[in-house]
Amino acid sequence: MRRTLIAGNWKMNGSFSANHTLLTGIIAGLPANDAVDVLICAPAPYLTQCAEVLGDSRVAWGGQDVSAHTHGAFTGEVSAGMLADCLCKYVIVGHSERRAYHAESSELVAQKVLQALAQNLIPVVCVGETLEQRENGATNIVVAEQLQAVLDVLSADQLINIVLAYEPVWAIGTGKTATPQMAQDVHAFLRSQLAVKNAEAANAVQILYGGSMKPENAKELLAMADIDGGLIGGAALKAMDFLAIISAC
Ligand code: G3P
Repeated sequence: MRRTLIAGNWKMNGSFSANHTLLTGIIAGLPANDAVDVLICAPAPYLTQCAEVLGDSRVAWGGQDVSAHTHGAFTGEVSAGMLADCLCKYVIVGHSERRAYHAESSELVAQKVLQALAQNLIPVVCVGETLEQRENGATNIVVAEQLQAVLDVLSADQLINIVLAYEPVWAIGTGKTATPQMAQDVHAFLRSQLAVKNAEAANAVQILYGGSMKPENAKELLAMADIDGGLIGGAALKAMDFLAIISAC
């Protein structure tokens, strides 16, 4: 039985003051049971603050990107070792905003996954299609290509150590959400692709949905068989909304 993971992606938002209010608010409002895994992916400058504030809680923290290199002359990049120094447990890799704004290829994303795994970080590997690709019926082709580049560099045994996130680009930050069935169809397809490499691991890998998940639609999405949680953007910046999504699980 896969555990549910609700992950907040703060993107390029926050301040030390606002973060403290948000993080302490989340901790204070967490449900008493630990049925749901909770993760905050903050901008790199705030990861040590996450460690300080979240360290004694059951909320994990992680980065939003990682270098494809271990160290060296890569100005501005953050290595997996540096994320590990900040006691991160996870790192988002291949978010559509990085694929779009930083021309990240699926092959580069795959190298970033290897860097994360080498430091015992759990990569949250993002895949997703644009509206044009969906309208052209190319959704499965696109997400299969994005995923396959990662599968090509992983051993069958390594598969169990990743988390997938399906984020239809046209649903990110738009308020347009994929219907539960649309999301379920892609999640099931992704799981079938994982199964080609390792059927047992495929059944264990968490596949999150991201793209305008809100308190009002979370329950229906999270009820779908192959949706194992959410990767939340805007709603993660408000403690009440983030907690409401956690409670919807
Ligand atoms: O990584 C999660 C993010 O892309 C979803 O953003 O604002 O649509 O929840 P949002």
